[in-house]
Amino acid sequence: MEAEPVQFLWRHYEELLDPARGALGRFLGARPRDIVFVTNATAGVNAVVRSLPLRRGDALLTTNLNYNACHNVLVETARLAGAKVQIAHVSFPLRSPDQVLEAIMGAVTPRTKLALIDHIASHTALVFPLERIVRALEARGVDTLVDGAHAPGMVPLHIQKLRPAYYTGNLHKWVCAPKGAGFLWVREDKQAGIEPPVISHGHNTPRPGYSAFQDRFDWAGTFDPTAWFCIAPVLDWMGRLLPGGWRELRQHNHELALKARRRLCHRLECEPPCPETMLGAMVTLPLPERFQGLPRTGKIDLEQKRLYDEFGIEVPLVRFGQPGSRWFRVSAQLYNSLADYEYLADALNRL
Ligand SMILES: Cc1ncc(COP(=O)(O)O)c(C=O)c1O
Repeated sequence: MEAEPVQFLWRHYEELLDPARGALGRFLGARPRDIVFVTNATAGVNAVVRSLPLRRGDALLTTNLNYNACHNVLVETARLAGAKVQIAHVSFPLRSPDQVLEAIMGAVTPRTKLALIDHIASHTALVFPLERIVRALEARGVDTLVDGAHAPGMVPLHIQKLRPAYYTGNLHKWVCAPKGAGFLWVREDKQAGIEPPVISHGHNTPRPGYSAFQDRFDWAGTFDPTAWFCIAPVLDWMGRLLPGGWRELRQHNHELALKARRRLCHRLECEPPCPETMLGAMVTLPLPERFQGLPRTGKIDLEQKRLYDEFGIEVPLVRFGQPGSRWFRVSAQLYNSLADYEYLADALNRL
């Protein structure tokens, strides 16, 4: 691309983009024609929400456990349109996926136009009962935009079977593609009105064999598409790490996360805040009692800084739920072992 940018972007772009879309379609259980690439899930959420034809008084629904950046997209879009943001309050700790469904459905009103629902909620690491949520919202006439930032590569996914109105996700998390590898899937009947975050040539430059939806998204001005081109080889490479392929990789990470949680609960003497059936390969637990209620100490909390600086551990510490309530989240990937979580427990006990 650097040696011959014009040749590369004009002649070879689609030759490399199409295999990426094909491989991703097979991985996601989706038709390639319904998939476009974006730089990340935040961009996917922006594209959908900011394309909606909202009227004054309409409502956009989400949960209190959503991701801040995506929450902001709803708030700003609603503000400009004179619409409202409805927040479904999901309690955490919780005992059953039913509580998530009930909270969401209890917040729906006749003015609800769209629900932004996480597949895997960031702070709590909860895997939402997505199939049931999508169907229940559909029955009330509400479209679902799934924020699947963490889902591909962590949990099984078949978007065509799930069939929400919209699904966006990242390949730069659990698929380990380079940063900037995100996608947006839009159900065929919803594609017409969806604009990319950046309007470029595609709006009046149709290409034979591509949908107008793909034309609009594929070319967002001159940029480096390397991350998108890496998707097919990364899916293949990761899928060959274990004999059972992606299925075994996901299962391995899931089981390691559950073992990690049991170990950490034992070592830190805390109760697990949700059922094991609501977890993928990430786990959120309360910080030990002596850290609860302490005030913020800047952009990154002191204990998170110390864990990194003194022990070489990167672990997000988060605050949500009851005021002052503090939690940490761990992940389990193939390169982790139980010893990592023992080491974290030691470090937390020594802080
Ligand atoms: C639920 C959820 N949504 C969105 C994002 C944002 O992802 P990105 O920064 O790649 O857009 C994250 C990141 O962790 C997330 O967990």
